[in-house]
Amino acid sequence: MKTSLAAALLALAPAAVAWTWADAEGKSIKFTSVPGYFVQDDEATSPTGFDYATANFGLVNRTYPTDKRFDAAGEKMQWQRFEAWVKHLNSGCNKKSNVQYKVLFMGRHGEGWHNAAESFYGTPAWNADPLLTPAGEREAYKANAYFKERYKTQKMPRFESYYTSPLSRCTVTANLTFADIQLPAAGRPFVPIVKEGFREGMTLHTCNRRSSKTYISEMFPFYQFEAGFTESDELWHASESETDEAFAVRAKAVLDDVFVTDNKSWISVTAHSGAITQLLAALNHRPFRLATGQIIPVLVKEVIERQPTPVFEAHEPYSTCDAPPITSIAGQGCVCPTGTTSALPEPTGSEPAECSSD
Ligand SMILES: *[C@@H]1O[C@H](CO)[C@@H](O)[C@H](O)[C@H]1NC(C)=O
Ligand SMILES: *[C@@H]1O[C@H](CO)[C@@H](O)[C@H](O)[C@H]1NC(C)=O
Ligand SMILES: *[C@@H]1O[C@H](CO)[C@@H](O)[C@H](O)[C@H]1NC(C)=O
Repeated sequence: MKTSLAAALLALAPAAVAWTWADAEGKSIKFTSVPGYFVQDDEATSPTGFDYATANFGLVNRTYPTDKRFDAAGEKMQWQRFEAWVKHLNSGCNKKSNVQYKVLFMGRHGEGWHNAAESFYGTPAWNADPLLTPAGEREAYKANAYFKERYKTQKMPRFESYYTSPLSRCTVTANLTFADIQLPAAGRPFVPIVKEGFREGMTLHTCNRRSSKTYISEMFPFYQFEAGFTESDELWHASESETDEAFAVRAKAVLDDVFVTDNKSWISVTAHSGAITQLLAALNHRPFRLATGQIIPVLVKEVIERQPTPVFEAHEPYSTCDAPPITSIAGQGCVCPTGTTSALPEPTGSEPAECSSD
C-alpha cells in the first residue's frame, strides 16, 4: 500500500512547460548544497532561534571571482555580486551541459491552527487543511516586508519561479508573502505552481489532507497546477501513513522534476517543516529545522550522473583564461587563446573565464 502511494506521486507528470533538460532524460541527478554562500550550512550557525530577517537571509559577506569584472568600482551590493556569480556559473561558455546551479529559497508556512491548537484535536479549525492563525499571518507579512526591503535597499534579485504545497497554510503564506510585491523585472511574475510533491508528510492527521483543486483555484485564481493534479486528494489516506522512506523518495523526486523542467535560477518554494527537512536531506544540506514562517536559501549544484563515466569526467567546467576565450567546447569548457584551458576545482575558485555574450 505504501509502495502504491509513492508510485502515485512519482507518476505525476511534470508541469507543462516548454523547457526540459534534455541531458537529464533517463539519468539520475545528484544534488549538492554548495557550502560557503549561506551561514545556515555552517556548523557554527545554530538553527535554534535563527531568524533570516536579522541576517540578510544568511547570505555570507564575501567576494566572488566575478567581482573583479562585474564590480570593478566596488559599488555593487552583496546580492548583486552573488547574482552575477550564479549567472556566471550557469553561463554556457563555462560549464558542462550536465551541470546547473540554482538558488532555492524554502519557506515554511506561517503558524496554522493545527500548530497553535494541538489541544483542540477534532475542532473544525484544526481538522482538514487548516488556515493561518493571526500569528501565522503576521509571519507571512513579516516575510513580505523583509523581501520588499531587501529588493529595494539591497538589490536582491526577484525570484523567477514559485512553487507551493497545495495545503492552504502554504498557498496562503505564499500569497501573503509575495502577491503585492511589485515585480518590475520582465518575466518574473508571481504565478506559483502548486505541486503535490511539496506537501507535508502524509500522516494520519487530517491537517495533512488537502482541499480540492476547485477550492484552491477559487481562492487563488492565478495559481497554476502541475499536470495531473487531481480534483480531490487521492494521496492522503485515513488508515495509512506515508513512511519516512517514501517521503525521502518523494522529496528527491519533486526536486528532480523541478530541476529538469525549470531552467530558471532563482526559485521560491513554500512548504512545511517535515517537507523542508526532507528536501534539505535530498540536497545533501545539513539538518536545519525551521520555525513557522522561517526561510532558508541554498545554492544548489545539480549534476547529471552519466553512465558510464565519461573520460573527461576529471575536468571541471570552470576554466580561466588570461584573455577572452576563443571558443568553448561542450563538456570541456573554454578554449583560451594560448590553447590551454586550465580547470578550477570548485566554483569558489579564482578568476573565471570571460564570455563575450555574458
Ligand atoms: C529557458 O527555456 C525557455 C523556453 O524554452 C527559453 O526561451 C529560455 O531561453 C531558457 N532560458 C535559459 C536561461 O536557458
Ligand atoms: C555583512 O555586512 C553587512 C554590511 O557591512 C553587516 O551589516 C552584516 O552584519 C555583515 N554580516 C555578517 C554575517 O558578517
Ligand atoms: C492574497 O494576498 C493579497 C495581498 O496581500 C491579499 O489582498 C489577498 O486578500 C490575499 N488572498 C487570500 C485569499 O489570502
